[in-house]
Amino acid sequence: MAELSYRPWRDGDDLALNEIWGDPETFQAGQFRGALAVSQDAGPWRRTIVAEDQGIAVAAGVVYSTALHAERLWVYVEVARDHRGTGLAATLLAMLRAEAAAAKAAGTIGTTALRTKVEPGTAGAAFAARIGLAPLQRSRVVVVSPNALRLPVFGEGTEAEATERVQDLATGSVELTDVVGRYYEAVHAWDPTGPLSPGTVQRLFLDDLTGAHGAIVLRAAPESSFGASVAPTKKGRVQAFVVSYTQGAQDAPTDVFVGHEPALAPAEAADAVRDLLALIAHQHPVVLELDESMTALRAVVEPLLEAGKASVRGVETLVVGES
Ligand SMILES: CC(C)(COP(=O)(O)OP(=O)(O)OC[C@H]1O[C@@H](n2cnc3c(N)ncnc32)[C@H](O)[C@@H]1OP(=O)(O)O)[C@@H](O)C(=O)NCCC(=O)NCCS
Repeated sequence: MAELSYRPWRDGDDLALNEIWGDPETFQAGQFRGALAVSQDAGPWRRTIVAEDQGIAVAAGVVYSTALHAERLWVYVEVARDHRGTGLAATLLAMLRAEAAAAKAAGTIGTTALRTKVEPGTAGAAFAARIGLAPLQRSRVVVVSPNALRLPVFGEGTEAEATERVQDLATGSVELTDVVGRYYEAVHAWDPTGPLSPGTVQRLFLDDLTGAHGAIVLRAAPESSFGASVAPTKKGRVQAFVVSYTQGAQDAPTDVFVGHEPALAPAEAADAVRDLLALIAHQHPVVLELDESMTALRAVVEPLLEAGKASVRGVETLVVGES
C-alpha cells in the first residue's frame, strides 16, 4: 500500500467518508460517526484525525471528553473495509492517545482513560479488546409485553389507597428531578457522573426537548407520626418512578425510563419497580434500557425475558473501557 498521510478533520469529510465506508456496520458505529467533527479545545474537548490514501480519506478516529461522565474519554475509529487489517486503526489510536496525553499534560482535560461502545462479536469489539478496553457495562433494550406482570394491589385494595401510592408528577417536579438524578448517579457508579445538578437532570431526562411527556411515581404508604389511628398528613416518599417519552408510531411501544429511590433495600426496590412497571405496561407495551448495573430492574425484567413476556430488541451494547 502506498504511504498514508494524516491530517485533522475538516468540514465535508463526513460526506466523503460516508461514501467510502458505506452504511454503518452497527448501531453504535452510526452514532459515533456523528461525533466525527472538527477538533476543538472545549465544550467538549475533541480531536479528530483523518487518514488519507493518495489524497482520499479512508479512515478517521476521534477522541472526546464529556462533562457528564468525566472520568474517561470516548474514542471511535473507523477504517474503510479495503484498508483494514494493516494496522491503520492502531496507528490512528496511537495518534489520538498522544493528543489526549498532551491535553492532559496541558491541564485541558483531566484523564486519558478511554472507553467506547461496541456490539459483541464484531470487528469493533475485537479491536477494542485488543487495545485493552475491557467490558464495563452491558446494556440491552427490552420490550415488555402488555399484561406481562400482575397488577399490584395496594393495602386493602381501595381506590383511596391506590391514589395515595400511585401519582402523576409533572416532569418539572423537584421531587421527581431529585430521585431521577440520584438513581442515574447510582446506576452509573462504574462510569461516575459525580453529583448531578437539577438543571442537568432536567436537560438529560425531563425537559421538553427530551420528549418526556409524563411521569408516574409510586410512593411509600403514608405513615402518621401519631400512630395508625390518626390520618397522616404527609405524602409517602417516592419509591419508584417512570418517565415516558413521546413515541413515533401510534402502536409502537412507549419509551420509558424506570428507576427507584437508590436508598431502598434491593428487595424493596425490585417490588416498587415491579408494581410501577405492571401499571404502565398493563395495556400497552413499553420499551426500556436495561443495564447490568440496574439490579432491581433486572430482578423484574429478566424473569419476563425467560418467560417470553419481554424480548430484547436488536443486539446488546457493550461499553468497554480502561479503568
Ligand atoms: C475496528 C476497526 C477500526 C479495525 O480497523 P483495522 O485498521 O483493521 O485495525 P488494525 O489493523 O489497526 O488492528 C489493530 C488490532 O486489532 C485487531 N483487530 C482488528 N480487527 C479485528 C478483527 N476483525 N478481528 C480480530 N482482531 C481484530 C488486529 O488484529 C490488531 O491486533 P494486533 O496488533 O495484535 O495485530 C475496523 O474494523 C472498523 O472500522 N470497524 C467498524 C467501526 C468500529 O467498530 N470501530 C470500533 C470502535 S473503536
